[in-house]
Amino acid sequence: MQIIDGKKIAAEIKREIAAEVDKRKSRGLKIPHLAAILVGNDPSSEIYVSNKIKDCKEVGFNSTLIRFDSNVQENELIDNIKKLNSDYEVDGFIVQLPLPDTISENKIIESIDPSKDVDGFHPVNVGKMVLGIPSFLPATPFGIIELIKRTGIKTAGKHCVVVGRSNIVGRPVSILLSLKGIDATVTVVHSRTENIKDIILQADILIAALGSPGFVKADMVKEGVVIIDVGTTRVVAPETKSGWKLVGDVDFENVAPKCSYITPVPGGVGPMTRVSLLRNTLLAASLKD
Ligand code: GUN
Repeated sequence: MQIIDGKKIAAEIKREIAAEVDKRKSRGLKIPHLAAILVGNDPSSEIYVSNKIKDCKEVGFNSTLIRFDSNVQENELIDNIKKLNSDYEVDGFIVQLPLPDTISENKIIESIDPSKDVDGFHPVNVGKMVLGIPSFLPATPFGIIELIKRTGIKTAGKHCVVVGRSNIVGRPVSILLSLKGIDATVTVVHSRTENIKDIILQADILIAALGSPGFVKADMVKEGVVIIDVGTTRVVAPETKSGWKLVGDVDFENVAPKCSYITPVPGGVGPMTRVSLLRNTLLAASLKD
């Protein structure tokens, strides 16, 4: 059994990106610039966004954080998105989700210029991804594919079971895995799936992305399975300094001994997600060269 060190692989990619930024600087090319819009002060979103800004600094990107109160009007948000769409200095931007219930996430995403949509959430980019046309790929699925590739795990012809069908992880990763070049046979299971355990038992590669701590138990997986655990649920943990910890969708302690490879939580998919946004931002800037 091998634990996949996402933190180490992400650090390697970050060094590659930083070297690319240095090269751009020496050639007089534009320094990549990411902007992030944060509405309200959801604690998880605050952490995610501050990490994104920190990552930018680390690799030498410029970054801008734009904050709005949780009672901001949809129109005001769209006006600001339009400004970012036409601001040459900003190569790519994201609107951190979730948004307050009063705001339509679909409307907001559709108002982003697809050429600046480094989250890969705009329908144009989702459509391109489905067709296998180069586009901005959503960060977590992009990170998962890179993690699998850099670990040297074979995907061609393998049965990949994706647990969860969210717009930002389960559905897009299931599409990427079935594309030419990756060539997995993909099954998506979800909350309405019958005999879910029987299907998960057939997985050569299991992507757990349902957000239910410890859902995948040892008797649900076959010997030698590869597990990518995307779950990151914050649970109370009095034994830690912060008082909470991140827990994955897999009962790691009991499942890991049956795996050929498994990602830990934290330190698996999370760092790869963060680095994928940097890759997309670098791509957005380089498309202007
Ligand atoms: N909320 C949770 N994950 C993401 C993400 O990848 N992008 C944005 N914009 N919001 C998120």
